[in-house]
Parts: sequence; C-alpha cells; structure tokens
Amino acid sequence: MTQPQPSVLEQDIAAARSVLGRRNLVFVGLMGAGKSAIGRLVAQMLDIPFVDSDHEIERVSRMSIPELFEAYGEPEFRALEARVIKRLLKTGPRVLSTGGGAFMNDATRAMVLAHGLSVWLKADLDVLWTRVSKRDTRPLLKTANPRKTLSDLLDQRYPVYAKADVTVQSRDDAKETIAAEAIAAVARLDRTQKKAPTS
Ligand code: S3P
Repeated sequence: MTQPQPSVLEQDIAAARSVLGRRNLVFVGLMGAGKSAIGRLVAQMLDIPFVDSDHEIERVSRMSIPELFEAYGEPEFRALEARVIKRLLKTGPRVLSTGGGAFMNDATRAMVLAHGLSVWLKADLDVLWTRVSKRDTRPLLKTANPRKTLSDLLDQRYPVYAKADVTVQSRDDAKETIAAEAIAAVARLDRTQKKAPTS
C-alpha cells in the first residue's frame, strides 16, 4: 500500500523549520510591503510565535509610533527600535516583522544577519503607494509629496534590503501564495551555510 505523500508546502514547512532552528525569521522591507500580514501568516504556517517590532516598541513605550516621533524625534525612535530588536533576537524561533527603517541601521542589520534569518519583501512603488496612501499613520510620509518621499526611500533602501538572506516579491496576490513562497525560499537555504547550527 502506498503511503500518503506530504504536500510540497508540508515539505517546505519542515525544511524551513529545520533551517531556522532557534533563530528568528526576520521580515524586512519598505512600508506597505506586507511584512506584518505575510509575517503573521508565515508564523501560523510554521506554527511558531509572531511578533511585530513596531507593536513591541509601542507596548514598551506605551506610546504610538507617531507619538514617539513627535515627542522624541527619529534618532530616539531608532535607538529604541535597535534595543527592542536586539532583545527579540535573543529568543526564538519566531517570526519577527520589523519597521521599514530597522534594517537600515548598521548595528541592527548586523545583529539580524548574525543571529536571525532575513527575508526582504520586495514590492514595486505602485503597490506600496496604493497600500500606504490608505492610511496616514506613517510619520516619514508626512511630507508635501509623500509618493516622492516613498520613491526616494525605495532608491536609498533597496540596495541595503538586498543584503537580506532571501528576497521574495510582494505583490497584489493572495497572502497565502506569498507566504508559501517565503517558506519555500527559506526551505531552499537548507543546502547552504545558512542552515541552523546543530548544537
Ligand atoms: C518606518 C516604517 C514604519 C515605522 C516607522 C518608520 C520606516 O513601519 O517603523 O514609521 O522608517 O520605514 P512599517 O514599515 O511597518 O510601516
């Protein structure tokens, strides 16, 4: 009698979990790329906890991100963000979605690359703009021409996000499809040096 074969997704899930080991799977990318929505779904599929660094910052500071920017400015926000992510990276496995600027910080990026496994959710400007223009909660986009600001951020940041271990194209497709692609991409790392240490 033939045994039922695990589906491709089940095989990828098992491989991705083994690649990850006790590390965090860290989603990076611009605002609107879907880091939280896709990250949450990937966590569900891998059956590991999910945490969003912006929510964690809001929880510990008891302030919203716009309030933090307003009261202390961006440098203080970045310092807090770096501390929160450093702490979160110490325990895992979990999926950690980060705010768009986190991976741009040299110290944070070095920590993520050394202790986590990073996934860049890459999206075109039009996709990002359609999503972010629906809400006005992003302090960095409170400018005279927010679409141009977003476009400038894309130019500055994409070469840096490209240092992530894995790149997955985010687009207007089912979240499940993109989440499955992220898991498959991590599973493929099985055959590279990014495999989790066995000890
Ligand atoms: C920021 C992105 C935001 C938030 C803050 C700064 C950025 O997070 O951390 O407004 O520098 O790109 P999202 O990427 O989740 O919108």
